[in-house]
Amino acid sequence: SNWEFIKTDVTGEKKNVGRDHTESSQGTECPLQRPHEGISTALQQFSKDKSIAAIVLTGSEKAFAAGADIKEMVGNTYSQCIQGNFLNDWVEVARTQKPIIAAVNGYALGGGCELAMMCDIIYAGDKAKFGQPEIALGTIPGAGGTQRLTRVVGKSKAMEMCLTGNMISAQEAEKLGLASKVVPADQLLAEAIKLAEKIGTHSSLIVQLCKESVNTAYETTLQEGLKFERRTFHATFSTADRKEGMTAFAEKRPANFTNE
Ligand code: HXC
Repeated sequence: SNWEFIKTDVTGEKKNVGRDHTESSQGTECPLQRPHEGISTALQQFSKDKSIAAIVLTGSEKAFAAGADIKEMVGNTYSQCIQGNFLNDWVEVARTQKPIIAAVNGYALGGGCELAMMCDIIYAGDKAKFGQPEIALGTIPGAGGTQRLTRVVGKSKAMEMCLTGNMISAQEAEKLGLASKVVPADQLLAEAIKLAEKIGTHSSLIVQLCKESVNTAYETTLQEGLKFERRTFHATFSTADRKEGMTAFAEKRPANFTNE
Protein backbone atom coordinates (compact mmCIF):
# COMPACT_ATOMS: atom_id res chain seq x y z
CA SER A 1 0.00 0.00 0.00
CA ASN A 2 1.24 3.50 -0.72
CA TRP A 3 -0.53 5.41 2.01
CA GLU A 4 -0.05 5.79 5.73
CA PHE A 5 -2.35 6.99 8.39
CA ILE A 6 -1.91 8.60 11.71
CA LYS A 7 -4.51 8.43 14.45
CA THR A 8 -4.96 11.32 16.78
CA ASP A 9 -7.62 11.44 19.45
CA VAL A 10 -7.36 14.17 22.00
CA THR A 11 -10.65 13.45 23.74
CA GLY A 12 -10.79 9.68 23.90
CA GLU A 13 -9.86 7.60 26.92
CA LYS A 14 -6.94 6.06 25.11
CA LYS A 15 -4.68 8.78 23.82
CA ASN A 16 -3.30 7.13 20.80
CA VAL A 17 -1.18 8.73 18.15
CA GLY A 18 0.38 6.23 15.89
CA ARG A 19 0.98 4.93 12.45
CA ASP A 20 -0.17 1.88 10.68
CA HIS A 21 -0.42 0.13 7.36
CA THR A 22 -3.72 -1.50 8.16
CA GLU A 23 -7.07 -0.38 9.46
CA SER A 24 -6.64 -2.25 12.73
CA SER A 25 -4.38 0.27 14.35
CA GLN A 26 -1.76 -0.74 16.86
CA GLY A 27 -0.25 2.74 16.79
CA THR A 28 2.49 3.83 19.07
CA GLU A 29 1.38 5.28 22.38
CA CYS A 30 1.86 8.96 22.91
CA PRO A 31 1.05 11.04 26.00
CA LEU A 32 -2.01 13.30 25.73
CA GLN A 33 0.03 16.45 26.23
CA ARG A 34 2.36 15.67 23.37
CA PRO A 35 0.27 14.41 20.44
CA HIS A 36 2.05 16.79 18.07
CA GLU A 37 5.37 15.12 18.88
CA GLY A 38 3.91 11.78 17.84
CA ILE A 39 2.56 13.29 14.66
CA SER A 40 5.81 15.13 13.89
CA THR A 41 7.88 12.00 14.43
CA ALA A 42 5.56 9.93 12.24
CA LEU A 43 5.59 12.57 9.51
CA GLN A 44 9.37 12.74 9.54
CA GLN A 45 9.52 8.97 9.12
CA PHE A 46 6.93 8.98 6.33
CA SER A 47 8.77 11.78 4.55
CA LYS A 48 11.90 9.63 4.30
CA ASP A 49 10.02 6.54 3.17
CA LYS A 50 9.92 6.46 -0.63
CA SER A 51 7.20 3.80 -0.64
CA ILE A 52 4.70 6.24 0.88
CA ALA A 53 2.92 8.53 -1.57
CA ALA A 54 0.25 10.06 0.66
CA ILE A 55 -0.73 10.27 4.31
CA VAL A 56 -4.14 10.11 6.00
CA LEU A 57 -4.55 11.76 9.39
CA THR A 58 -7.58 10.65 11.37
CA GLY A 59 -9.02 10.45 14.88
CA SER A 60 -11.87 8.53 16.43
CA GLU A 61 -15.58 8.53 15.59
CA LYS A 62 -16.16 10.95 18.44
CA ALA A 63 -13.37 13.37 17.71
CA PHE A 64 -10.70 14.17 15.19
CA ALA A 65 -9.22 16.37 17.91
CA ALA A 66 -10.93 18.64 20.45
CA GLY A 67 -8.02 21.04 20.56
CA ALA A 68 -5.16 21.72 22.88
CA ASP A 69 -5.48 20.34 26.40
CA ILE A 70 -7.25 23.15 28.20
CA LYS A 71 -6.55 21.78 31.67
CA GLU A 72 -2.86 21.64 30.87
CA MET A 73 -2.80 25.18 29.51
CA VAL A 74 -4.53 26.76 32.54
CA GLY A 75 -1.32 27.71 34.35
CA ASN A 76 0.73 28.71 31.31
CA THR A 77 2.24 32.18 31.36
CA TYR A 78 3.14 34.58 28.56
CA SER A 79 6.86 34.17 29.13
CA GLN A 80 6.53 30.36 29.09
CA CYS A 81 4.61 30.55 25.80
CA ILE A 82 7.28 32.75 24.23
CA GLN A 83 10.30 30.91 25.56
CA GLY A 84 8.84 27.48 24.91
CA ASN A 85 7.76 28.65 21.43
CA PHE A 86 4.29 27.23 22.21
CA LEU A 87 2.57 25.68 19.15
CA ASN A 88 5.69 25.86 17.01
CA ASP A 89 5.89 22.05 16.84
CA TRP A 90 2.69 21.93 14.82
CA VAL A 91 4.27 23.51 11.76
CA GLU A 92 5.56 20.07 10.82
CA VAL A 93 2.12 19.10 9.50
CA ALA A 94 1.89 22.09 7.18
CA ARG A 95 5.52 21.61 6.14
CA THR A 96 5.12 18.04 5.01
CA GLN A 97 5.94 17.68 1.33
CA LYS A 98 3.75 14.64 0.74
CA PRO A 99 0.01 15.12 0.42
CA ILE A 100 -1.78 14.77 3.73
CA ILE A 101 -5.51 14.11 3.98
CA ALA A 102 -7.50 14.86 7.14
CA ALA A 103 -10.31 12.35 7.66
CA VAL A 104 -12.44 14.20 10.20
CA ASN A 105 -15.05 12.30 12.17
CA GLY A 106 -16.66 13.98 15.15
CA TYR A 107 -15.24 17.14 16.66
CA ALA A 108 -12.48 19.19 15.07
CA LEU A 109 -12.29 22.06 17.53
CA GLY A 110 -9.71 24.73 18.25
CA GLY A 111 -6.30 23.25 17.55
CA GLY A 112 -8.15 20.25 16.09
CA CYS A 113 -9.79 22.38 13.41
CA GLU A 114 -6.46 24.09 12.82
CA LEU A 115 -4.74 20.73 12.50
CA ALA A 116 -7.28 19.66 9.88
CA MET A 117 -6.69 22.91 8.00
CA MET A 118 -2.92 22.30 7.98
CA CYS A 119 -3.67 19.22 5.90
CA ASP A 120 -4.09 19.43 2.12
CA ILE A 121 -7.55 17.94 1.76
CA ILE A 122 -10.30 17.52 4.34
CA TYR A 123 -12.85 14.72 4.04
CA ALA A 124 -15.56 14.87 6.69
CA GLY A 125 -17.75 12.21 8.23
CA ASP A 126 -21.42 13.24 8.18
CA LYS A 127 -21.45 13.90 11.95
CA ALA A 128 -18.26 15.97 11.96
CA LYS A 129 -18.27 19.38 13.60
CA PHE A 130 -15.75 22.16 13.03
CA GLY A 131 -15.21 25.14 15.27
CA GLN A 132 -12.82 27.64 16.81
CA PRO A 133 -14.14 27.89 20.39
CA GLU A 134 -11.04 29.59 21.85
CA ILE A 135 -12.95 32.85 22.33
CA ALA A 136 -15.04 31.20 25.05
CA LEU A 137 -11.82 30.34 26.87
CA GLY A 138 -10.61 33.91 26.83
CA THR A 139 -8.05 33.35 24.10
CA ILE A 140 -7.86 33.28 20.33
CA PRO A 141 -6.90 30.58 17.81
CA GLY A 142 -3.13 30.24 17.68
CA ALA A 143 -2.34 27.80 14.92
CA GLY A 144 -4.09 29.17 11.86
CA GLY A 145 -7.72 29.51 12.97
CA THR A 146 -7.91 33.20 12.17
CA GLN A 147 -5.67 32.87 9.10
CA ARG A 148 -6.23 29.62 7.18
CA LEU A 149 -9.95 29.59 8.00
CA THR A 150 -10.37 33.15 6.70
CA ARG A 151 -8.60 32.31 3.45
CA VAL A 152 -10.82 29.28 2.96
CA VAL A 153 -14.28 30.46 4.01
CA GLY A 154 -13.91 34.23 3.70
CA LYS A 155 -13.98 37.00 6.27
CA SER A 156 -17.63 37.04 7.29
CA LYS A 157 -17.92 33.34 8.09
CA ALA A 158 -14.47 33.09 9.68
CA MET A 159 -15.21 36.15 11.80
CA GLU A 160 -18.56 34.67 12.84
CA MET A 161 -16.99 31.34 13.79
CA CYS A 162 -14.03 32.87 15.66
CA LEU A 163 -16.09 35.52 17.49
CA THR A 164 -18.97 33.25 18.53
CA GLY A 165 -17.12 29.96 18.94
CA ASN A 166 -20.11 28.29 17.26
CA MET A 167 -19.50 25.02 15.47
CA ILE A 168 -20.46 24.28 11.90
CA SER A 169 -21.65 20.92 10.56
CA ALA A 170 -19.87 18.71 8.05
CA GLN A 171 -22.44 19.69 5.43
CA GLU A 172 -21.84 23.37 6.01
CA ALA A 173 -18.08 22.81 5.94
CA GLU A 174 -18.45 21.21 2.54
CA LYS A 175 -20.66 24.02 1.28
CA LEU A 176 -18.03 26.54 2.40
CA GLY A 177 -15.17 24.64 0.75
CA LEU A 178 -13.54 23.79 4.08
CA ALA A 179 -14.16 20.09 3.45
CA SER A 180 -14.11 18.74 -0.08
CA LYS A 181 -16.43 15.80 0.62
CA VAL A 182 -18.88 14.51 3.24
CA VAL A 183 -19.35 10.76 3.57
CA PRO A 184 -21.15 8.51 6.06
CA ALA A 185 -18.97 8.29 9.17
CA ASP A 186 -18.30 4.56 8.85
CA GLN A 187 -17.03 4.97 5.29
CA LEU A 188 -14.84 7.98 5.95
CA LEU A 189 -11.50 6.29 6.44
CA ALA A 190 -12.04 3.99 3.45
CA GLU A 191 -12.90 6.99 1.26
CA ALA A 192 -9.86 8.93 2.49
CA ILE A 193 -7.63 5.94 1.77
CA LYS A 194 -9.18 5.60 -1.69
CA LEU A 195 -8.30 9.23 -2.32
CA ALA A 196 -4.73 8.67 -1.06
CA GLU A 197 -4.42 5.63 -3.32
CA LYS A 198 -5.61 7.59 -6.34
CA ILE A 199 -3.01 10.29 -5.64
CA GLY A 200 -0.49 7.46 -5.20
CA THR A 201 -1.04 6.28 -8.78
CA HIS A 202 0.62 9.47 -10.03
CA SER A 203 4.26 10.49 -9.90
CA SER A 204 5.15 11.38 -6.31
CA LEU A 205 7.66 13.87 -7.63
CA ILE A 206 5.10 15.73 -9.72
CA VAL A 207 2.47 15.46 -6.96
CA GLN A 208 4.92 17.23 -4.66
CA LEU A 209 5.48 20.03 -7.17
CA CYS A 210 1.74 20.37 -7.70
CA LYS A 211 1.07 20.57 -3.96
CA GLU A 212 3.72 23.26 -3.65
CA SER A 213 2.13 25.21 -6.46
CA VAL A 214 -1.39 25.07 -4.97
CA ASN A 215 0.02 26.11 -1.60
CA THR A 216 1.72 29.07 -3.26
CA ALA A 217 -1.74 30.42 -4.03
CA TYR A 218 -2.19 30.90 -0.29
CA GLU A 219 1.16 32.44 0.37
CA THR A 220 1.80 34.97 -2.40
CA THR A 221 0.08 37.42 -4.69
CA LEU A 222 -1.65 36.17 -7.84
CA GLN A 223 1.14 37.44 -10.12
CA GLU A 224 3.86 35.79 -8.05
CA GLY A 225 1.81 32.62 -7.81
CA LEU A 226 1.23 32.48 -11.56
CA LYS A 227 4.93 32.96 -12.19
CA PHE A 228 5.81 30.23 -9.70
CA GLU A 229 3.27 27.93 -11.30
CA ARG A 230 4.52 28.53 -14.85
CA ARG A 231 8.15 27.99 -13.86
CA THR A 232 7.22 24.82 -11.98
CA PHE A 233 5.27 23.63 -15.00
CA HIS A 234 8.35 24.30 -17.13
CA ALA A 235 10.45 22.39 -14.60
CA THR A 236 8.32 19.27 -15.05
CA PHE A 237 9.81 19.09 -18.56
CA SER A 238 13.14 18.20 -16.99
CA THR A 239 11.67 15.06 -15.38
CA ALA A 240 11.48 11.51 -16.67
CA ASP A 241 7.94 11.22 -15.33
CA ARG A 242 6.65 14.10 -17.49
CA LYS A 243 8.10 12.38 -20.55
CA GLU A 244 6.68 9.02 -19.48
CA GLY A 245 3.22 10.45 -18.72
CA MET A 246 2.86 12.04 -22.14
CA THR A 247 4.44 9.10 -23.97
CA ALA A 248 2.10 6.67 -22.21
CA PHE A 249 -0.90 8.77 -23.21
CA ALA A 250 0.21 8.83 -26.85
CA GLU A 251 0.81 5.07 -26.78
CA LYS A 252 -2.55 4.44 -25.08
CA ARG A 253 -1.02 2.59 -22.12
CA PRO A 254 -0.82 3.25 -18.36
CA ALA A 255 2.12 5.38 -17.30
CA ASN A 256 4.93 3.77 -15.39
CA PHE A 257 6.21 6.54 -13.15
CA THR A 258 9.59 6.27 -11.48
CA ASN A 259 9.43 9.48 -9.43
CA GLU A 260 12.44 10.76 -11.30
C1 HXC B 1 -8.97 19.16 27.89
C2 HXC B 1 -10.91 18.17 27.23
C3 HXC B 1 -10.91 18.90 26.04
C4 HXC B 1 -9.82 19.81 25.80
C5 HXC B 1 -12.63 17.64 26.05
N1 HXC B 1 -12.00 17.40 27.19
N2 HXC B 1 -12.00 18.56 25.32
N3 HXC B 1 -9.95 18.30 28.15
N4 HXC B 1 -8.88 19.89 26.76
N5 HXC B 1 -9.69 20.53 24.69
C6 HXC B 1 -12.37 16.46 28.25
C7 HXC B 1 -13.57 16.93 29.06
O1 HXC B 1 -13.17 17.84 30.05
C8 HXC B 1 -14.07 15.63 29.63
O2 HXC B 1 -13.23 15.26 30.71
C9 HXC B 1 -13.81 14.64 28.48
O3 HXC B 1 -12.81 15.23 27.66
C10 HXC B 1 -15.04 14.40 27.63
O4 HXC B 1 -15.60 15.67 27.26
P1 HXC B 1 -17.13 16.09 27.56
O5 HXC B 1 -17.17 17.56 27.52
O6 HXC B 1 -17.63 15.43 28.79
O7 HXC B 1 -17.85 15.43 26.31
P2 HXC B 1 -19.00 16.04 25.41
O8 HXC B 1 -20.11 16.59 26.27
O9 HXC B 1 -19.34 14.98 24.41
O10 HXC B 1 -18.37 17.30 24.64
C11 HXC B 1 -17.26 17.14 23.77
C12 HXC B 1 -16.69 18.52 23.36
C13 HXC B 1 -16.41 19.33 24.64
C14 HXC B 1 -17.71 19.27 22.51
C15 HXC B 1 -15.45 18.24 22.54
O11 HXC B 1 -15.60 18.56 25.51
C16 HXC B 1 -15.68 20.61 24.38
O12 HXC B 1 -16.29 21.61 24.02
N6 HXC B 1 -14.37 20.62 24.60
C17 HXC B 1 -13.55 21.80 24.52
C18 HXC B 1 -13.21 22.12 23.10
C19 HXC B 1 -12.36 23.35 22.99
O13 HXC B 1 -12.63 24.40 23.60
N7 HXC B 1 -11.26 23.26 22.23
C20 HXC B 1 -10.33 24.37 22.05
C21 HXC B 1 -9.20 24.20 22.98
S1 HXC B 1 -8.11 25.59 22.90
P3 HXC B 1 -13.78 14.55 32.02
O14 HXC B 1 -12.59 14.53 32.92
O15 HXC B 1 -14.91 15.41 32.51
O16 HXC B 1 -14.22 13.20 31.52
C22 HXC B 1 -7.11 25.28 21.63
C23 HXC B 1 -6.08 26.34 21.43
C24 HXC B 1 -5.37 26.25 20.11
O17 HXC B 1 -7.21 24.33 20.96
C25 HXC B 1 -4.07 25.59 20.24
C26 HXC B 1 -3.54 25.15 18.93
C27 HXC B 1 -2.91 23.76 18.96
